[in-house]
This record gives sequence, C-alpha cells and structure tokens, in this order.
Amino acid sequence: MFQPPLRYLMGPGPASVAPSVLQAQAQPTIGHLDPAFVGLMDEIQAQLRQVFRTENAFTMALSAPATAAMEACLANVLERGDRVLICVNGVFGVRLAEMARRCGAEVDTVHFPWGRAVQVAEVAETLETASAPYKLVAWVQAETSTGALSDSAALAALCRQHQALSLVDCVTAIAGVPIEVDAWGLDMVYAGTQKCLGAPPGLAPVTVSDRALAVCRARTTPVQTWFADFSLLGGYWGEAQRRVYHHTAPVNALYGLHEALRLVLEEGLEARWARHQRVSQSLVEGLAAMGIEVIPPETERLPPLTTLRIPEGVDDAAFRRYLLEQHHLEIGAGLGELAGKAWRIGLMGYGCTEEAVARVLDALRQGLVQFAPRQAAA
Ligand SMILES: Cc1ncc(COP(=O)(O)O)c(C=O)c1O
Repeated sequence: MFQPPLRYLMGPGPASVAPSVLQAQAQPTIGHLDPAFVGLMDEIQAQLRQVFRTENAFTMALSAPATAAMEACLANVLERGDRVLICVNGVFGVRLAEMARRCGAEVDTVHFPWGRAVQVAEVAETLETASAPYKLVAWVQAETSTGALSDSAALAALCRQHQALSLVDCVTAIAGVPIEVDAWGLDMVYAGTQKCLGAPPGLAPVTVSDRALAVCRARTTPVQTWFADFSLLGGYWGEAQRRVYHHTAPVNALYGLHEALRLVLEEGLEARWARHQRVSQSLVEGLAAMGIEVIPPETERLPPLTTLRIPEGVDDAAFRRYLLEQHHLEIGAGLGELAGKAWRIGLMGYGCTEEAVARVLDALRQGLVQFAPRQAAA
C-alpha cells in the first residue's frame, strides 16, 4: 500500500483533512442507488444549502474537481455569441475567461493588478458603458493565486442592477470567509472540497438559483457536455423518490464530504470564519515581525491564504524544497505574474490553527538564517 510521507499542508490546497473525514471515507462502499446512500445524498444537499446559505433546490456536489464545476456552470448557461464579462485578478479569472471563449461566448474582461481585489467601481463603470448588456458576469471571490478577497455582495448587487446573471468561484472561500448566496442574490456558485471545507480534493459543491436555471432551460441549443448538463444532473441529485441513474457517484468520497460538512456545521459558520480571520492575523503579525511583506492590501486580504513577498536574495525553489525536506512543510509558489516573487501560505479548515502558524514561522525563521542571513538578523 502507498505510504504518503508526513506533510504539513500549508499551501493553496489541498489542505489537511480531519481524521474523522478520512475514517468516514474508509467505510465499506455501498451501492450508489442504495436507499441508505440516497439518504446520504439528501443530507449532503441539506448541509450544502446551510453552508452556501441558500434555499436553492439545485444544490449538489459534482463528481469532479472544481475546474469541472467552473466549466459546467459556463457551459450550461452560455450559448454561442452570448456576451460575458469576466473579472480577472489572477489565474482563476484567466481560466474562467478562456473557458467562456471555448463555449463560444463573446468575452470581455476587466483586469486588476495581481494581489488586488476586483474593484467594484471599475466593474460598475464597465457595466454602465457597455455597448450591449451582458448575460453573465463572473469573478473569483477568493483568488487563491494571489490571496485577494473580492466583495461578492457588492458585485452581485451590480449584476442585479444590470440584469446580468452572476457566477462566482467560491473554491477557497467556502467555509473560510462569508458567502451568502441568497442574501447577496448570487446565481451560480461553485466550490471545492479541498480547501476550507477540509475534505480531500475531487468533488465540487455547486448551487444554482431558479433564475439561472430558467435561463439554462430556455436555451435554444443543447448543452455541449452530457456529463455536466444540469438538467440531467438535476435528475440524479433531484428528489429522492425520483432519482435516475446518471453516473456512478464516488460513494466513499461523499461519505467524507458528509463528515467534513458535519464538522463545519458543528463548529458553526460564523465561528469558522472568525477562526480563519484570527489565525491568519497571527500569521500576518508574525511575518511583519520578521520584516516580511504581505502583498494584498489589508482590506483585500484573504484570511485562508496569505501571499507574501519572497525576501530579497532568497532562492524560491531551493527554499521551498528545504521547507519540504527539513520541516515536512508544503507552502505554495507564486503563480503567473507572481511566479518567483511570492509564496502562498494556506491556513484552511482543519489546518487553520495557531500551532500551524507557529510551525511555519519557526521554519521560515530557521530557513532564512541559511538562505538570507542578513534578512534573518534584521
Ligand atoms: C479559486 C480557485 N478556483 C478553481 C480552482 C480549481 O480547483 P480544482 O483544482 O479542484 O479543479 C482552484 C484550485 O486551486 C482555485 O483555487
């Protein structure tokens, strides 16, 4: 049997998983249409509605990573020639735009510096001055590639004002920072299991408003993807009495998600958001004491993921290898415009603890003595 090495996962995800989630996954597999499993699916849907803060009937976990959910949302709502506005402030905004293009949409993008949030005023101006209305506006609430947190409430309000549907990437946001799907009026929201939800990677919670589903139903062309066609998936994750086979659900992974969601709800969403805020603040203070700069401005920081500037003269790859080999500690490299300039430290879900902060600060301190003695002495 494969024996994974000891790792403290403090990168952009996957994050560490609670032992009870792993135990849940190790239970015997049962049939995916077994009444007991159908009951579990119902419970997962109810749990996800609580975590997303929504009453949306279409709330489910796609049997695929979050990238597939991103593509599924776009593919279900977009038809050739539809006008879309994508807010880009990091890697995942770029990915959304590329996928929307592949759906045949006419894609406009509004760009923001990497490390900054999506600026609401600029999006408002783009919507006001657009030559024709947009069918959909999409953004990433928690840009994992840069550590910036955007204001989904304000952006959703703009969408309503301009009669556009909203599509929000909540992969790193879910269970780490507030998401209020119904109160903010979000239309299509997808997430991942491997960050603040505290489950292994491979599933993607999705929720879609009735308004967005009505737009999907009014399509004149079939959805390009059969697997991720919401009308078919809705039959599988629909009402328990009328479930029809669509694909074989990843039974054991769903046992794990159920347990992870149970832990989230047991802790309470507000308490969990507060924990992420409090613990990440300790990290930011520890970094400041070492003279290390955090890149996003204070009001735009994403508590579950802190992006810092690599201290002067330090060899990025060699330092991260040192952390992994000597401290069993994984942190993330910078991506895109921040490649070679930044590190990303994740404090997510089960791994978001003061102990983790102490571990990473201690490892950074020891490493800097070797890699940047002048910085360490400062
Ligand atoms: C903000 C964001 N969106 C989408 C994804 C894609 O998720 P996955 O790798 O599970 O497909 C990630 C993964 O890190 C992410 O951080």
